[in-house]
Amino acid sequence: MRIIRCANYEELSQKAAEFVAAQITLKPDCVLGLPTGSTPIGMYARLVEMGMDFSEVTTFNLDEYYPIKKDNPQSYHYFMTENLYSKVNLKPENIYIPNGETTDPAAECKNYEKSILACGGLDMQVLGIGQNGHIGFNEPGEMLNSYTHVTKLTQNTIEANARFFNSMDDVPKQALTMGVATIMRARRILLLASGKSKAHVVRALQGSVIDPEIPATILAAHNDVTVIADAEALGE
Ligand code: PGA
Repeated sequence: MRIIRCANYEELSQKAAEFVAAQITLKPDCVLGLPTGSTPIGMYARLVEMGMDFSEVTTFNLDEYYPIKKDNPQSYHYFMTENLYSKVNLKPENIYIPNGETTDPAAECKNYEKSILACGGLDMQVLGIGQNGHIGFNEPGEMLNSYTHVTKLTQNTIEANARFFNSMDDVPKQALTMGVATIMRARRILLLASGKSKAHVVRALQGSVIDPEIPATILAAHNDVTVIADAEALGE
């Protein structure tokens, strides 16, 4: 695992955008796995500023709340449209986001996994990390060998995400998420961590102990992981 230290959030966003841009330059028709959350917003803004050519890129989003309407401003569909998809030249048919409106979530998850494989697998998966160590919505204590599936959000995640909703009751209680095994199959992983609320999980990541209570620690078993973290997330 490579750790890239950044002084602050701005530097983290710049480095992360350069990392993704380098992947697109190396392989213009690459398949990217992309996260939502507050951490990657700066990275997306930099990628847009750089004017990267996404015309051959395919993207798969990590997760989506369930159930949720696509036009709900808190949906990850809406988030990605706002922050990236409406601002770069990705082809609409190359954009995949789990469908939070589906009436058959199990089938949606199965098809999502199939689509990733049909596109040749993820060249690079970008991840944020939850305060509880979740990656995607793979919450503490879940199986680490899962593929895309329906999951229940933990109270900790509901509370952490309530800031985006009118009230805690409005936070959906389930999500559709790539599984840990889906993420681990990506050829390269980039994890972004910002702020002191992440310091304890970033410390756990740097050890070699895989702890199902901190799902991100599974990344110790992947051979191409880069963590870009700011000073606060590194506990400085
Ligand atoms: P955050 O969320 O970037 O808003 O901290 C990260 C996550 O929950 O994966």
